[in-house]
Amino acid sequence: MAVPNGLTPSTTRSDGAGASSLRARLRRIYGDTVGFERWCEGLEHSLDQLAAARPQALRALDARRLAEGLPGPGVIGYCAYVDRFAGSLRGVIERIPYLQRIGVGYLHLLPFTMAREGDNDGGFAVRDYERVDPRLGSDADLLELTAALRAADIRLCADLVLNHTADDHPWAQAARAGEARFRAFYRQAASADEVRAWEASLPQIFPRTAPGNFTRVDALDAWVWTTFYPYQWDLDWSNPEVFSEMLLAMARLANRGIEAFRLDSTAFLWKRPGTRCMNEPETHWIVQALRAGLDRVAPAVLLKAEAIVPTAELPAYFGLADPADPQRECQLAYSSSLMAAGWGALASRSADLPARVLDALPALPAGSAWINYVRCHDDIGWQVLAEEAAASGVDLAAIASHFAGADGSDARGESFQSESGESAHGTNGMSAALCGLTAARAGADPARAKRALDRMLLLHGLALSLPGLPVLYMGDEIALDNDEAWRSDPLRAHEGRWLHRPPMPWLADGELPVDDAGRRFGEALADLIALRGRLQALSPEVGSKRLLGQPDGLLAFMRGAAFVAAFNFGERVVSPLLPPGRWRALCIGLAESTLAPLQFQWFQRETDA
Ligand code: GLC
Repeated sequence: MAVPNGLTPSTTRSDGAGASSLRARLRRIYGDTVGFERWCEGLEHSLDQLAAARPQALRALDARRLAEGLPGPGVIGYCAYVDRFAGSLRGVIERIPYLQRIGVGYLHLLPFTMAREGDNDGGFAVRDYERVDPRLGSDADLLELTAALRAADIRLCADLVLNHTADDHPWAQAARAGEARFRAFYRQAASADEVRAWEASLPQIFPRTAPGNFTRVDALDAWVWTTFYPYQWDLDWSNPEVFSEMLLAMARLANRGIEAFRLDSTAFLWKRPGTRCMNEPETHWIVQALRAGLDRVAPAVLLKAEAIVPTAELPAYFGLADPADPQRECQLAYSSSLMAAGWGALASRSADLPARVLDALPALPAGSAWINYVRCHDDIGWQVLAEEAAASGVDLAAIASHFAGADGSDARGESFQSESGESAHGTNGMSAALCGLTAARAGADPARAKRALDRMLLLHGLALSLPGLPVLYMGDEIALDNDEAWRSDPLRAHEGRWLHRPPMPWLADGELPVDDAGRRFGEALADLIALRGRLQALSPEVGSKRLLGQPDGLLAFMRGAAFVAAFNFGERVVSPLLPPGRWRALCIGLAESTLAPLQFQWFQRETDA
């Protein structure tokens, strides 16, 4: 039997089996709940109504997307905050030609539905999952945007913040007002002792700015579980009503033209005493059930796991918890440890970290892909690499200090949430700052600028070479520097991640002001993206295999049988050891097969024809 994974829905609403697939998945999680069958029938009925209401244009798109599969090598992704990229949703519509010019076919807009008043974690404290935040536009604007993106063949990805709501979400307000039904939507501890018992095994996400995982709420006479900020209340996913509310919200959003959901903080949904409460088996059952439910309405809409977890925990989000019994779960997931490993390699001048991660990543089910990236709106989290770093003898704290410039390096990032110089939590900063371009700009030093551009290209080259969908972070395409404005904004001053969330500096004529370095980087990146588009070996479905026995500092892997990508993280000029045959170097401006420090190259096997 074909593996029912990836893009191919195991069941659809029309074959009658959809009901049983969803129900079997729900039974595993909620089967013991009183009234389970009736609840399922109600949910299935609501989904079928949404399926019937799915606009014709979207049904036609479903059929096309299912037939064409994941975007090919000619497509890249782009991630941006609506306000910082374009002011509003309507502003994004105006910037579609810009996105098309850089090859974008997948656009992740960070949260744009109604966020909490005041501090809201960049929109990740959600007050309403379905209403567009009035600060960014209207519900009608969203429909216009999705139609315009569809016309431009750009898939829109939206966040669905699964783990928590804002403390001013109507559910939280009703809970505070004493409504038992809504109180049951949230995880709570009844006593300080209970809090202590949970905390004994829990990690801390923001140990400096939001220590602990619980927040005392007097109105509830309880401690609400708050994994992230105190105003982000963790939902209780053991309550079936939470599941149905979220699934129906997702399906309604899909009917408005959203083509992918980034399942924010996916790893945290299920809490089990004595564990870190991350990556629990029930979390995967929930995501599989969400997938089965969405299949009844919008089978081609993608689910993307935002699980920033150790390499070994990642494959499970593609439904590979038990490789012998694959399940249909997410179609996309961030390759977060490979991203961090690339930065680690840059700092340590050794290819060991990315080599270890690459070797540990399994082949993915058909129709699934990694999201490969260099930077995003979050910090670079080092903890996901703890195992690889220990095995390589790499000190993650030294790497974090390197990117904070503490070891005299050119990097101009900042450490995030680290307890001391001895520990590594995260690193903030735009890639231009972390790669040394900011320092070179300040010193007007062309040699340093050249090294910085090499570093930026090396990491972007890696993201463009790996199997999956590469996603650019807003502003990196013009080598934007850090933004210092957050320090004097009372709503943001406590949150160092704003360092790398600069507004796009559009000029009145719609152009972007770029200096020579920014222009050179942008042009080199555009050339690479264009070249990638012509290389079938870089299609997401073509797997990778690392080439062993390379000179120190060199990472090399094949894509298929006739393509090699090689990256020199080391400090010496080296030649990659290519498999037998005649190979042609594809990237222009580089000497055939020797790689200077910080250079990379793509090689294609010459055919005899
Ligand atoms: C995700 C987001 C991050 C946010 C957190 C809590 O990790 O990427 O920005 O702070 O979830 O919602």
